[in-house]
Amino acid sequence: MATLNATQNQALDAPAGPVFAHVVGWGMALPDKVMTNEEISAFVETSDEWIYARTGIKERYIAGEGESTATLAYKAAQQALEVADILPIDLDLIVVATSTPENIFPSSASLVQDWLNAHHAGAFDLSAACSGFVYAMNMAADSIRAGSIQTALVIGSETMSRILDWQDRSTCILFGDGAGAVVLAASEIEGGVKSSVLRSDGAGSDLLAIPSVGSIDAAESRAGANGAKLYKMTMAGGEVFRFATRVVNDSIEQASKMAGIGVEDIDLVIPHQANLRILQAAARKLGIDINKFMSNVEYYGNTSAASIPIALCEAIEQKRIQDKDHIALVGFGGGLAWASMIIQWGIPKPSEQHGSVFNRQRRKVQYRMARWRSRSRRLRRRVKRGIKDFRP
Ligand code: COA
Repeated sequence: MATLNATQNQALDAPAGPVFAHVVGWGMALPDKVMTNEEISAFVETSDEWIYARTGIKERYIAGEGESTATLAYKAAQQALEVADILPIDLDLIVVATSTPENIFPSSASLVQDWLNAHHAGAFDLSAACSGFVYAMNMAADSIRAGSIQTALVIGSETMSRILDWQDRSTCILFGDGAGAVVLAASEIEGGVKSSVLRSDGAGSDLLAIPSVGSIDAAESRAGANGAKLYKMTMAGGEVFRFATRVVNDSIEQASKMAGIGVEDIDLVIPHQANLRILQAAARKLGIDINKFMSNVEYYGNTSAASIPIALCEAIEQKRIQDKDHIALVGFGGGLAWASMIIQWGIPKPSEQHGSVFNRQRRKVQYRMARWRSRSRRLRRRVKRGIKDFRP
């Protein structure tokens, strides 16, 4: 059982009634380096005017040496735990939604689990491209509502810069790196994650792809239905654009209906940040004021699974979310896959009372201990192996 603090005293020991899954913490992390449109136009034939007019993007963050999907996820996670004011040891589950994991396995989530010293948590990566964060939220919220876990850390983290073909001007201008995380926790207070709609159309799998080791043509060093290079993204931009504008409004409408609200009751839409024009088209079709669409694509580009939690963090920071508000998350992208979720915001957040100083210190100690725990485990394994090898 996660030990939420006194302000969250309605978290459950033995729930008598229904359980709800609430967002109680959030955080984001970005690489140090920013790359502007002008910088890109120095090595591919493009311009700031073209990129900004077609996408709404001005700049993006690019991971440097020592920065990776897992390190960004770890930083975002630490912030989210700080806001939630819970200890890593209280986490039951860590999910990292990503298309750019450190490895096929171990999962980036397992690395984060180790670095956080969250040794009561299960951990796995989830692959649903730009819809990954909403898929992961749905998995975690359902586990909480079913009673199998109490507290989950859900992260979207990407280093898209590493799977881009930097000679391909139709894709390299669009993407960026970053991470966002939320803590979901069980509560008896009604609200939290109210509905989710997950969908996929694999017939569009060739429209947006990053072929990997398991690809049918991997041995040829060319792979993927459209002859893409291994580990490099290919995209049929126009078709993806049309797909996105078609599914966003439908899935928001379905998720709203499932949550028992009308589209007009949504206070803020936090969409996947792919292209400002996609958001404008979706707002028009839904009949929602574009000002109710959170957009920060200008400064981050498309950070795939990280874009929704990063936008959520910024919306909170900008005070665009109030208690009892209905928030719609919507993701769309490779798969093709898409997903919408309605969240009713609001149980008291520890951060609003600046958390507990004691817990902050305990978290710091746990992070430090994590490094020692890992090292000592590895050392013990090596010593054991050495003894075995020398045994006559
Ligand atoms: N700079 C300058 N010109 C470019 C360019 C660039 N970065 N990229 C493409 N062009 C050129 C094309 O070569 C084409 O030239 P041509 O007419 O001489 O053949 C012209 O611009 C129009 O290309 P087109 O692909 O039709 O442009 P578009 O208006 O569809 O915009 C995208 C291209 C990629 C911006 C747009 O299709 C898009 O945003 N799609 C969705 C992508 C997306 O969001 N993917 C992720 C989903 S999760």
